[in-house]
Amino acid sequence: MASVKLKQVLISGFLLWLFSVIGTLLVAVTEQSTIEQIRANEKKVLLQNLHALIPPQKMDNDMTQDTITLAPSDLLGTKDSSTAWRARKNGEPVAVVLNAVAPEGYNGDIHLLVGIYYDGTLAGVRVVKHQETPGLGDGIETRKSGWIFGFDGQSLDAPPAERWKVKRDGGDFDQMTGATITPRAIVKAVKNTLLYFQQHRQRLFQ
Ligand SMILES: Cc1cc2nc3c(=O)[nH]c(=O)nc-3n(C[C@H](O)[C@H](O)[C@H](O)COP(=O)(O)O)c2cc1C
Repeated sequence: MASVKLKQVLISGFLLWLFSVIGTLLVAVTEQSTIEQIRANEKKVLLQNLHALIPPQKMDNDMTQDTITLAPSDLLGTKDSSTAWRARKNGEPVAVVLNAVAPEGYNGDIHLLVGIYYDGTLAGVRVVKHQETPGLGDGIETRKSGWIFGFDGQSLDAPPAERWKVKRDGGDFDQMTGATITPRAIVKAVKNTLLYFQQHRQRLFQ
């Protein structure tokens, strides 16, 4: 009788152990595939943002795989190291997309992606994170207004550096109705990012 009871205890113990192993394995596999899914989605969104700035037909490389890590920089407004993505065609540099921060937003830091062609011309600017006031400063988002497209094709020569201000301050860039602080902060950050590019162009494509 006692040996039958022991056998039963051993069998149920073994089954419990087996189920816990299978359960752990299932969780691990699901977690891994979820992580891979998240990574794949992140890469897709990143590529969409990068290609929104640098059209895919301008390059023959995968910008997400051609990166350089940049040290924190006052001109980029970055306090930590940041990634830059490079576009190339036939091995030749075409453009770079830099992370930049405009610290003087109405409600603090405004995070930007700035696309610059090798000749120093702006491919475009996109806002990736901000807390500007809805209905006022949030006009910097492409889904809210076309204001941010005003940077496309500009450079430090056109307009000349001294006109890199909002019109309210005597420059060439539009402000938004009831909102000057946000555009003022972004115009300044984009100008500084162009200055950074001017100073580091060679190294950026090494
Ligand atoms: C509650 C509140 C939120 C505001 N949010 C913003 C904003 O997000 N961006 C902005 O540029 N101005 C914002 N403003 C307006 C600014 O205070 C300022 O009046 C406007 O930017 C014009 O600036 P200027 O006088 O320097 O030209 C806000 C004002 C208030 C009262």
